[in-house]
Amino acid sequence: MKLAHRLLLQSLAIVAVLVISVVLIIDYQLHNSITDQAIHDLAGEARLVALQWRSGINADSLADNAGEATRHRITLIDREGHVAGDSDFNDARLTELENHGRRPEVMQALTTGFGSSLRMSPSTGEQQLYVAVKSPLGVVRLSVNTAVIESVFERARQGVILAGVVSFLLAALLAALLARGISKPIVQLRDLARSVASGGQAAPSVRHAPGEVRELADAVNWLATELDAKLSALDAEQSRLRKLENVRRDFVANVSHELRTPLTVVSGFAETLSDPDVPVDRRTEFAQTILSNAQRMQRIVDELLDLTRIESGHWQPRPQAVDVDDVAREVFSHATRAAAEKGVSLRTSIPLEAKSVWADRTAIEQILSNLIENAIRHTTDGSVTIETTKTDDSTEVAVVDTGLGIPEEHLGRIFERFYRVDPGRSRDSGGTGLGLSIVKHLAEAHGGRVSATSVVGKGTKIEVSFPTNFQQPS
Ligand SMILES: Nc1ncnc2c1ncn2[C@@H]1O[C@H](COP(=O)(O)OP(=O)(O)O)[C@@H](O)[C@H]1O
Ligand SMILES: [Mg+2]
Repeated sequence: MKLAHRLLLQSLAIVAVLVISVVLIIDYQLHNSITDQAIHDLAGEARLVALQWRSGINADSLADNAGEATRHRITLIDREGHVAGDSDFNDARLTELENHGRRPEVMQALTTGFGSSLRMSPSTGEQQLYVAVKSPLGVVRLSVNTAVIESVFERARQGVILAGVVSFLLAALLAALLARGISKPIVQLRDLARSVASGGQAAPSVRHAPGEVRELADAVNWLATELDAKLSALDAEQSRLRKLENVRRDFVANVSHELRTPLTVVSGFAETLSDPDVPVDRRTEFAQTILSNAQRMQRIVDELLDLTRIESGHWQPRPQAVDVDDVAREVFSHATRAAAEKGVSLRTSIPLEAKSVWADRTAIEQILSNLIENAIRHTTDGSVTIETTKTDDSTEVAVVDTGLGIPEEHLGRIFERFYRVDPGRSRDSGGTGLGLSIVKHLAEAHGGRVSATSVVGKGTKIEVSFPTNFQQPS
């Protein structure tokens, strides 16, 4: 059942109980006071008659006359209880009436001066109200048929019932308005809670609600906003986790893919070698192949471990003032043969003010040897130059070549793990696809950044910035 209806019914039940009790009480009081009033009136009339009942007066004609005047039955009873006169009976029948000395109202009047009684009349057989007062000669008694009193009472009662019905209707109207007033904001509150629960937008719809309901609505609204915030935070966290999971999966797939080829080669050649029929002169060749593939796997694993160490923060750079000329000489010394084979000249362009870099020496060696190796690999008959420049807050170290260049669409991804523009060429020349990724992480560990610019057919520039104010984190 609806709340409004329930409230209305409950209020109506209360009102009904109230109205009925009030009507019953008034009814009872009314009945009493009408009867009292009748007794009082009758007593007054009886006293008037009593004044006139003196010795020497014909009692029966007095009763008749008084009965005529008051339109009530009047009975005059002497002290012995004999009926001396009665307005309803004439002389002849008076003697037939029994002695009235034992009637309760008569006995009462004789002892206290006044008596009344409500009972069946043995003379008329109807419900009568008797009122008796004492007089010097006996007792004057008036009686009235209660039907007369009842009819007065009935008229008054109708008024009371009408008032009851009217007040009930008014109260019902009021209860209906009240029930609506109370239930409306609660119903709105329910709708609000439902819309919040189903993920809908909360709206401050419960504006005209009274006190606590209004507060409850505000609380629900507040909950909804909180919930929204929490949910979107959760969403963000979830998509971050999904991304991480994808990265992890890609990584595992990439590593497996990189290791599969050399592993297949190694196991295949090892199996062949285990055959005693293999001619001696070929054994060395097979062993060489096995060795070079094992070295390739070794390099992949070493570089992955390096990368993980830097990425996880387990490795921290120990910065010092490093002379770039020194490092260039060192790195070039390992690359001279490869450069000569490809007709590439190795150069430096290191101005005096940008001669020194605040960085970890091993890291900057690793960075430069990676960049030089890449540059020589992608250049023929040109030059590879180590360039430094000084800016306000950093020293830029770049390796510039006059080689193949990198197509625009690949440029943004070359720093990703295992990303290569030409995987075959990279593998054939011993690349792992991890070099630039290591460079990027080393630079970032120094608080620096990497960037690449390239023009296909003209050459490439990979630049690493080292902030001058870099402090080793403690
Ligand atoms: N100087 C360069 N010129 C042209 N392409 C380059 C150069 N340096 C890097 N690249 C491209 O970027 C890719 C990623 O480089 P890197 O991470 O060092 O891997 P690897 O050298 O092992 O292939 C290379 O495979 C190559 O395609
Ligand atoms: Mg490389």
